[in-house]
Amino acid sequence: MIKRAVVRGVGHYLPERVVENAEFEASLDTTDEWIRTRTGIERRHFAAEGETTSQLAVKAAQAALADAGLAATDIDAIVVATSTPDFTFPSVATMVQAGLGSTTGFAYDVQAVCAGFVFALANANGLILSGQATRVLVIGAETFSRIMDWTDRGTCVLFGDGAGALVLEAAEGSGTAGDRGILSVDLHSDGRYREILYVDGGVSSNGQAGHLRMQGNAVFKHAVQKLAETAHTALDKAGLDGGAVDWIVPHQANLRIITATAERMNVPMERVVVTVQDHGNTSAASIPLALSVGTARGQIKQGDVVVTEAIGGGLAWGSVVLRW
Ligand code: UT7
Repeated sequence: MIKRAVVRGVGHYLPERVVENAEFEASLDTTDEWIRTRTGIERRHFAAEGETTSQLAVKAAQAALADAGLAATDIDAIVVATSTPDFTFPSVATMVQAGLGSTTGFAYDVQAVCAGFVFALANANGLILSGQATRVLVIGAETFSRIMDWTDRGTCVLFGDGAGALVLEAAEGSGTAGDRGILSVDLHSDGRYREILYVDGGVSSNGQAGHLRMQGNAVFKHAVQKLAETAHTALDKAGLDGGAVDWIVPHQANLRIITATAERMNVPMERVVVTVQDHGNTSAASIPLALSVGTARGQIKQGDVVVTEAIGGGLAWGSVVLRW
């Protein structure tokens, strides 16, 4: 028998304000048609003035705890993936802990931009397998609307705000791919590509939050190649092939990247959870949001093989394979 990190609950929260593509036509040289056809995005949610990443995260965490039938005090560790924290410090995770009314366990953030949730999931898996925690809340939460340059049509139409959360719990497994829980992890980064996706501000450089800058085309090419590769590797590590995949739950950046990755993996689009049309790119929140929406839609069911994959600034990318 071996230990596995099994999903016990899932939930999400989206800010109330929905912004349709057409709203950008008033202030930018863009069209609903361009945004839809080039990205698949139709609308996104933006946080209200004063609404912060930790507030979105607390609501997603409460939904996941309710789904798991657990209280905050049942949780040993809270890991939040975010690149848009409320403050330079303390971590969003400790703010979530306080927001949930818990004083037990430990909490911290991880930062791997759009790949953040995959890295956080891998990290939480490590906490459980090493015996440091029995139940971990893993959250992806972002307010990317705060770092948009509203004059840059190449980026500001792409991103949205939101949060998603999973409760992982230690369970006994047989060590085979038939087990529920996280089956394999594959992570990568290559810091040489900093210039194609970055924020032009920060604590130790200019003391500002900065704005997101992206060479979309260059990132697109890396995404199409690297995402299918890492998903294949993770499946190999789990002892599974493309035919065993019930659901790909990809980072939701661009429908064309999602489609190309599924094609390269030989998985039909009917087995891909797609939410990009309604959420835009919510960075580290996009996968847990898609897991939560995919479960609520009745797509993802207990026992299904789920492949998550993501790439973002760094570059950092990776894949986690789990049986729901
Ligand atoms: O989540 C982190 C990872 N990020 C990603 O995965 C994003 C990856 N990149 C992409 O999704 C795509 O590259 C974009 C959606 C950002 C851009 O699509 P593209 O097909 O790569 O377009 P492009 O950047 O090559 O631009 C094509 C044209 C350009 O005009 P010219 O130079 O051909 O005259 C752009 O200026 O489209 C123009 N353009 C726009 N036109 C109308 C760029 N943004 C817009 C816009 N509306 N919003």
